[in-house]
Amino acid sequence: MFFKKKNRRKLDMNNIPQHIGIIMDGNGRWAKKRGLPRSAGHRMGAETLKKIVIYCNKIGVKCVTAYAFSTENWNRPKSEVDALMDLLYTYLGQVEEQFKGTNVILRVIGDRSALSDKINAAIDHAEEYTSKNTGLVLNVALNYGGRAEITRAAKSLAEEIAAGRRTLRGVSEQSLSELMYTANSPEVDLIIRPSGEYRLSNFLLWQAAYAEFWFSNINWPDFSEKDMEQAILDYQMRNRRFGKV
Ligand code: IPE
Ligand code: IPE
Ligand code: MG
Repeated sequence: MFFKKKNRRKLDMNNIPQHIGIIMDGNGRWAKKRGLPRSAGHRMGAETLKKIVIYCNKIGVKCVTAYAFSTENWNRPKSEVDALMDLLYTYLGQVEEQFKGTNVILRVIGDRSALSDKINAAIDHAEEYTSKNTGLVLNVALNYGGRAEITRAAKSLAEEIAAGRRTLRGVSEQSLSELMYTANSPEVDLIIRPSGEYRLSNFLLWQAAYAEFWFSNINWPDFSEKDMEQAILDYQMRNRRFGKV
């Protein structure tokens, strides 16, 4: 019997979200389901990020901010934190292979002071290596927390006021935005959280003000280009009012 192919919606290329935040969650559960160590899930999750970023770059997304390690993730067992840091170091060390030909600019956001010298040097190298690229900006959020980010901005403003370099009247939403790690990125249009959790877990609190949210049960390592396309198709159906009628 012949079934008419369901009319598939197509992406509206004039309404591609400029900045997408991704909470890369569900790596551990993905691994557990397969009888693998959690670290295998994290490794697969890193592959998924690369695939999704290349897809996003291809369709014209300007910026992706990917949550890789939160300020709360230090509370995991030391063995898992160490495995994550090792993976990160390996990933950054392979920047030439991972990013060659992608045109992607890599940046790390978050409090780097708690990361080892070895990892900081690898971050510097990876940022430098991709700095001449002209495509999508990938912000990897490492030791990142939205509250820490806002606190840091507030402290910086307080310091400027105390030093007489800024007046109280000179403090605005704009001045706080300029002190966020995302100051040079477009507004966050869409935040994606897979793995069946419905929370922000301290991700992009300031930037999420008018972002659209997209949730799914898929664990991050299984997330495909098709899922990303679906998230954007759904985003394009939303009516973003920004408080207006
Ligand atoms: C997300 O996957 C990666 C990090 C938080 C580093 P999880 O490790 O949180 O995976 P689940 O949530 O336990 O499945
Ligand atoms: C959020 O995931 C952090 C990252 C994906 C890096 P978590 O797994 O840490 O979040 P909770 O604990 O479920 O809220
Ligand atoms: Mg998790």
